[in-house]
Formats: sequence, C-alpha cells, structure tokens
Amino acid sequence: MTTTQDDARPQPAPAVAGVRTLVVDARREVAEDTVELTLRRPDGARLPDWAPGAHLDLVLPDGRSRQYSLCGDRWDAHTYRIAVRREAQGRGGSVYLHDEAQIGDRLEFAGPRNNFRMTPAPRVLLIAGGIGITPMLPMLHQAIALELDWRLAYLGRSRASLPYLDELEALGDRVTVHAKDVDGRADLDSFRPDDPAVQVYACGPERMLDAVEAWAPALGHAPRMERFAARADDRPRTPFEVVAARSGVATPVGADETIVAALRRVGVDVITSCAQGVCGTCETNVLEGTPDHRDSVLDERSRDEGACLLPCVSRCLDRRLVLDL
Ligand code: FES
Repeated sequence: MTTTQDDARPQPAPAVAGVRTLVVDARREVAEDTVELTLRRPDGARLPDWAPGAHLDLVLPDGRSRQYSLCGDRWDAHTYRIAVRREAQGRGGSVYLHDEAQIGDRLEFAGPRNNFRMTPAPRVLLIAGGIGITPMLPMLHQAIALELDWRLAYLGRSRASLPYLDELEALGDRVTVHAKDVDGRADLDSFRPDDPAVQVYACGPERMLDAVEAWAPALGHAPRMERFAARADDRPRTPFEVVAARSGVATPVGADETIVAALRRVGVDVITSCAQGVCGTCETNVLEGTPDHRDSVLDERSRDEGACLLPCVSRCLDRRLVLDL
C-alpha cells in the first residue's frame, strides 16, 4: 500500500490497533516534491521485521492513518525508511510530513503490514510509476539477493520527479527509465513480457495499473499490484443482513452504508485504517454468504475462494453474510 499517498476524498477517522511510536531520525529530498524520512524507535530498540511490499500505517496528528511503503533495507532492524510525495490537494498527510515533521518529532504507527508480497518466481518484471517506486526498491534488492532474472520499468512525468533515479540507473540495463518530458508518452504494452514465467509487479497511478491489469489474459497470471487509492466503483449496492457470529449480533446493512458502519452501530467494532479497501487492515473471515469484493487488496484466488473480505468497502451478493467477528 505505498503506499498510500494522499487521497482527496474525505474519510472517517479510523480506529487503528497496536499503535506505537517512532521518531524522525533523518529527512532528505529524493526527488522534486518527494521527501524521504528515516524513522526509529525513541529508545533505539529493534523494530518489527518486514518483507518487501510491506507498508506502515502512520497515524498523523489529525488522528487519521495513512499508509506508506517501506522502501529501505529490510535487514536494518533499527530504522524504517519511507518516501512521500507532496500532494497539495490530498488529505493533508503528505503536506504534514513535508512541511511540519522535523528531525526529532514523534509519529505514531501501526504495522508493518504486507498486502503486496513477492511470490516465488525465477523471473520478475517490476513496473513503477513515480512514487510507486517505493515498494519496488526492497523487491528489487530481494531479486538481486536471490539472483533472480529481474527487470525494472520506471515511468514518470519527468526525470526530476523520479525518486532514487541515480541509484537505480547505476544498476545498468536491467533498468528502463521512461520520463515523459524526455521520451514522450510511454507505450506501456511495450513492456509486457512474452514469457508467462515472468511475474509482474506494479505500483503507480491508476491508469498505469489498469493498463497492466489488462495484461492478465496474455500473461496467463494476474499481475500483482498495489494501489494508492480505491478504484472507482459505481456498481449498485443492495441491502443485506450481516451477522457477527462470535458477538451474536445481527444487523441490516443499508445500501448507503458499509458493513463496518452497520456493525459499529450495534456495538461491534472492526479495526480499520484506510477505510477505502487499500490497506488490508480490516480483513475478516467469512463463515457464510458470498462476498461482493470491492477492495484493491485481495488477489484473484482469495476473491474466488470467498473465505475472507474487507468489510470497509466490500458487500454481500446474498441476503445474509456471516462474519467471524
Ligand atoms: Fe483498509 Fe479496510 S481498513 S482495507
């Protein structure tokens, strides 16, 4: 989930579990409008482990959380690194981190959480758009460490806007950089691999991800991707009943409310973070009913299995949904 950078839609203040404290240890500009923050525990203690693709939930002073991909060295047990692009029209998280957060300041966090794991594959293609490079950096270093056959396609509007460009170009011709100000509009399909053994990972703007997602039939597998924000969804929403089995509570879910909101109305809390189906925090097991998945986290296999859903956005295709809550 960068990975979430800001999103313009208003969001309810979410509940976040297991919040702990980090302190800003260093900050530096890594591209135009992009700042990198190095974070550590106030007492210098070891931080929770993570794997490539993981993100942190930072809980900022307005009480809302934002997700940022970890882009540093996963083997460094004492610091986390994130990079944040300033989104003047966003919800304020990136502006706060750019304009307010200084070395020594404390930030609350939960996680790390990983919805974007690498799967075993001998060949990988990483496609990053702009700040979407952040989850790709540790993936890239993992691919190098495992001696995989890897390629990186790195796209953006200008070279100045691409974080970590110098260090990536120093890796040689496995890295293809396409900056619109120099190279014109990218033909994304020119990056599509012919070999179905190549596992594709992508993170970046919605239009780029939609184009990569459309490769699935030709690839023979679904590209793995992380989205910054929920996909537009204008499908009809019908009412149904949700049952929280362990709590022994049932309540209707109206067409205009979420499962989370309906359950909170009757006193059953669900831990959430992004509240827009992109972080995975609220994942819940389904005991009965057919999920109507509307998130951007679960892969095709999990969707088809129907054993879990993300109740901050997803719904039910049946009249009754029983959850393990
Ligand atoms: Fe983020 Fe539900 S709270 S996916």
